[in-house]
Amino acid sequence: MQLDTQKLTATVAHLLAPEKGILAADESNGTADKRLESFGIATGEDMRRKFRHLFLCMPGVEEFLSGVILYDETFWQDNCDGKPFRIALREKGILPGIKVDTGAKDFPGFPDEKLTVGLDDLPERIKKYADAGAAFTKWRAVIKIDEKAGLPTDACIEANADALARYAVVAQQFGLVPIVEPEVLLEGPHSLKTSEIITTRVVGAVIQKLQDYKAYLPGVILKTSMVINGNKNADEASPVEVADATVRMLRKTVPTELGGVEFLSGGQTAVEATAHLDAIAEKEDLPWEIAFSYARALQESALTIWQGKDENVAAACTEFTKRLRLNQLADAGKYDVSLEYLD
Ligand code: 13P
Repeated sequence: MQLDTQKLTATVAHLLAPEKGILAADESNGTADKRLESFGIATGEDMRRKFRHLFLCMPGVEEFLSGVILYDETFWQDNCDGKPFRIALREKGILPGIKVDTGAKDFPGFPDEKLTVGLDDLPERIKKYADAGAAFTKWRAVIKIDEKAGLPTDACIEANADALARYAVVAQQFGLVPIVEPEVLLEGPHSLKTSEIITTRVVGAVIQKLQDYKAYLPGVILKTSMVINGNKNADEASPVEVADATVRMLRKTVPTELGGVEFLSGGQTAVEATAHLDAIAEKEDLPWEIAFSYARALQESALTIWQGKDENVAAACTEFTKRLRLNQLADAGKYDVSLEYLD
């Protein structure tokens, strides 16, 4: 199949437009329900529709978002006004994307490690989404750090990097930009240095596999964790230390021709995720476009306010807009924590 490289680079350029981000709204149904439950909100298909409508259909959201990553249910679902979400997004100039892995499963023979699966019927599934208007795709691998147990193993890194690269090539064949997301988990007592060493190994392996499988690099977006100390390590790195370590990791691993780099929030607080992005954006001469692509750090404070109630929608939208605006500023290196306290 001939690659449509022009289409791929045009999609990358749209997604990484300056000062815009990509909302990760692709929690599986089970994860979405768990998240709603954790805020005391009812669950089920109709509640998930309202949850998605709140964030995807907010008036003015297109000022901040270039794309939204959807889960299968939302991709095919109508919003609360009876219009398919994917069409409502396109009408606002926001590209609909789709998560196409089918989950991180136990990695046989490697206790406590996961391998993300979904390659078998990937071409058929991607074709259906492409025909229905998807512009890009996402595949997430999870890598756990546990130094005492010797994790991550080389085998886990290698198998996940292999799957990410094979997925990327299939997505590109159908004209859809692949977002390759190897998430190095925040959980644990590891140091900033360990996080840097492991994230460098992981991202390096993914890039190597993308090259081995001849992915078209300008048509690939890397979605990575920032390099941060583990959440059970009392020695908390400053935003500048996080930015230094993250950019060192990227410079060692990511070729300049790659389409661009997005960051996940990974369990950081909303303020940390914004402050860290800002410190990264302040670094000079970054050769790639960078952007935020958060789920929790954009949505959680608004969910606290919403509580699933119609009368709280306006206040929840105000909070969501605030997080979007602050991340927009951070993406340009213009954020300051004092802005958190302004109305
Ligand atoms: P978080 O920002 O909550 O880590 O989610 C991003 C994401 O895409 C996870 O797959």
